[in-house]
Amino acid sequence: MIEDQILGIDVGASGIKGAIVNIKTGELVTERFRVPTPFPAKPKAVAKSISEVVNHFDWKGLIGVGFPAVIQNGVAKTAANIDKKWIGTNVEKLLSEATGCPVYVRNDADVAGIAELQFGAGKGKKGTVILITIGSGLGSAVFTDGVLLPNSELGHLKFKGMIAEHYAADSIRKKLELSWNDWGKRFNEYLQHLELLLSPDLILLGGGSSKKFSKYEDLLKVNCPVLPAKLLNHAGIIGAACLASLNKKKTLTS
Ligand code: BGC
Repeated sequence: MIEDQILGIDVGASGIKGAIVNIKTGELVTERFRVPTPFPAKPKAVAKSISEVVNHFDWKGLIGVGFPAVIQNGVAKTAANIDKKWIGTNVEKLLSEATGCPVYVRNDADVAGIAELQFGAGKGKKGTVILITIGSGLGSAVFTDGVLLPNSELGHLKFKGMIAEHYAADSIRKKLELSWNDWGKRFNEYLQHLELLLSPDLILLGGGSSKKFSKYEDLLKVNCPVLPAKLLNHAGIIGAACLASLNKKKTLTS
């Protein structure tokens, strides 16, 4: 294992993706390797799929994982887009045991935000920066002057009488067969609501739909700049690796 390299893994609703990351440059050192997320996505089955990713790279070192839930002290507290069995599971412990490697786990949007602020569209940005990941759900990462407020879960705000991600996630666009125009209007309303609550200086959009930014960009009428994430679907992997490195340093100094 080379000092600056860490295996980053992003657990999504449909795929589990990993790559070895150079945490100094934020670049992928290897190709991305993907296995489908098992269905049902129960803890044991997902741990097995994650081990497949680890074995693919013949990896024996530190691992960082972005996971689609509120994660406190390694434990999953919610499970909106993954099997409910995860609630109360110590994800770090389970995955460390399954892989035989030290594993650090955080919310998937939080780690994507870490990557974007360090290497991507939010690099060097001060003030309040919000990253929203648009996919099966709406994930969020909130930073003030580069410091993360973890597990912000802005996709779960009550909005229009429902959970916001049930109104404006990409899965809703697909389910209701909304045009980009109709979905974009919904998403704009959601961003305006966030602006009212948090007065961000910059909004970054990540997840699959950030690649389609040009289809709805003109519909977004908020006062701050809105930019698509630069690292696209690599942000989760890169951020997960960075977070593992940060935590290792903390453990060594505490
Ligand atoms: C979850 C978040 C997650 C987001 C994106 C939401 O449903 O509650 O924790 O970050 O989906 O995966």
